[in-house]
Amino acid sequence: MDFKEWFKEKVRIVDEYLEQAIEEKENPQKIIYEAMNYSLLSGGKRLRPVLFLAAYELFREDIKEALPYACAMEMIHTYSLIHDDLPAMDNDDYRRGRLSNHKKFGEATAILAGDGLLNKAFETGLEAAIKSGNLNGVKALKIIADSSGTEGMIGGQVIDMDGENIIRSLEDLKYMYSLKTGAIIKSSIKAGAVLAGAGQEETKALENYAEKIGLAFQIEDDILDVTGTQEKLGKAIGSDAVNNKITYLTFKSIDEARKDIEELTLEAVNSLTIFGGKARYLIELAKYLVGREN
Ligand code: IPE
Ligand code: IPE
Ligand code: MG
Ligand code: MG
Ligand code: MG
Repeated sequence: MDFKEWFKEKVRIVDEYLEQAIEEKENPQKIIYEAMNYSLLSGGKRLRPVLFLAAYELFREDIKEALPYACAMEMIHTYSLIHDDLPAMDNDDYRRGRLSNHKKFGEATAILAGDGLLNKAFETGLEAAIKSGNLNGVKALKIIADSSGTEGMIGGQVIDMDGENIIRSLEDLKYMYSLKTGAIIKSSIKAGAVLAGAGQEETKALENYAEKIGLAFQIEDDILDVTGTQEKLGKAIGSDAVNNKITYLTFKSIDEARKDIEELTLEAVNSLTIFGGKARYLIELAKYLVGREN
């Protein structure tokens, strides 16, 4: 199967799972289900669940066991986007080609929809772990929880919010990126490997790959905020400038940033040599992220 077909098929499986994950119950709090599904089912590249499944697939053929965990990653990611767009954070009105959650449902519901998705992620993962009785499932969830918390995505967002006062160097910025964006990308891959029972050396190689593509991914996101179009990105451009954000482009030109992305991608690919041909989709995935348009 070629890469594009493979990727499309993974996205299809993920979307199918997500569509039935949150039931819109007819109860007094029903607005929350609508708000959660509004953002969860509005497209998105589904990068994190696909990475999870790709890592798992290196070791196991049948991905059925991995699917709930992979989709939990997308729930956490979507929650982080809803909160990231709030007026108190980046104050963005569009996301994934539609009004951002708070613009559609109001701030209170958007905050709660984010909270709801975070909980739903662990409800989903824990249910799968209990059903299977596989301790690796619990280990995977611990990795996912750590990566989403104050030593991971939330920690990175905290620094990002006060970046002008905290980020003094490119090294500071890379630290922030390794948390706000890198942590969840890395845990998607690591948790997928751990769930599948990967060994230490294999897990380490995948972590190296993930660190490189995670940084490259956020650099590309910074570039797209300058060079992209709202039509293709599904979110407003120029948001970083409006918010006076310290980004990769504070320290480097666009050409230099693009070079760094190429180099990081090469390093990511080289991290996978121990897997031989089995890693071909992960290799293609790293390359696909270079020069993406959304
Ligand atoms: C956007 O993530 C936020 C960042 C971490 C840079 P994505 O670019 O993966 O957004 P979706 O999921 O495709 O909408
Ligand atoms: C967000 O980074 C990272 C998250 C944890 C959501 P950005 O603020 O740069 O993401 P976009 O550009 O709004 O998607
Ligand atoms: Mg932000
Ligand atoms: Mg933002
Ligand atoms: Mg951005």
